[in-house]
Amino acid sequence: MERREKKQPALIREAREEDLPDIVRINLETLPEHYPDYFWRDHLRLWGRAFLVAEVDGRIVGYIMTRVDRGLGYLQWRPFKKLGHIVSIAVLPEYRRRGIGTALMVEAMRRLKEIYGASEAYLEVRVSNDAAIRLYEKLGFKKVRRLRKYYLDGEDAWLMAKKL
Ligand code: ACO
Ligand code: ZN
Repeated sequence: MERREKKQPALIREAREEDLPDIVRINLETLPEHYPDYFWRDHLRLWGRAFLVAEVDGRIVGYIMTRVDRGLGYLQWRPFKKLGHIVSIAVLPEYRRRGIGTALMVEAMRRLKEIYGASEAYLEVRVSNDAAIRLYEKLGFKKVRRLRKYYLDGEDAWLMAKKL
């Protein structure tokens, strides 16, 4: 029973204001990059159709927060494209390696493209974060540039991008 329950697929849905405490707690537990409350709320208000949570048995076990930027892009040089920026994604440790991170990414990218008109997705990731880099590469992201000392502790980031 236990094993069967663990394998239940996650429900991917849009985040709501009342989910923010759970989302922030997952972020605090899993990532060194944290944000003030208004930052989470603004992303939800402005780009809420691509701010998603994963729910298993009524419990939030993961999230993805995105935004839409405008810029030249990193893959094809056409001015003022809409770029889907994957700001933060995390899944609770006990729910990893069962496709939830992939499901959050795929659904968020679909929405960034179809709802917000983004033609590229991009993100930054610590160069030491093998799990996340593999997830992104599996989804077709390419490393496009190394950002020196991007993080507060001095670690570099890979900027990774993918055409939508
Ligand atoms: N080691 C090696 N490869 C991995 C690992 C790992 N620990 N985790 C995921 N992968 C790769 C595998 O190829 C995996 O496919 P497989 O299981 O069939 O081999 C593939 O990614 C997809 O894995 P999922 O199960 O879909 O991903 P998961 O639900 O485990 O979530 C995530 C991945 C979000 C990176 C998770 O490990 C996590 O929350 N980590 C801590 C937070 C974090 O680092 N977030 C990303 C920061 S960068 C940013 O937010 C833009
Ligand atoms: Zn970013």
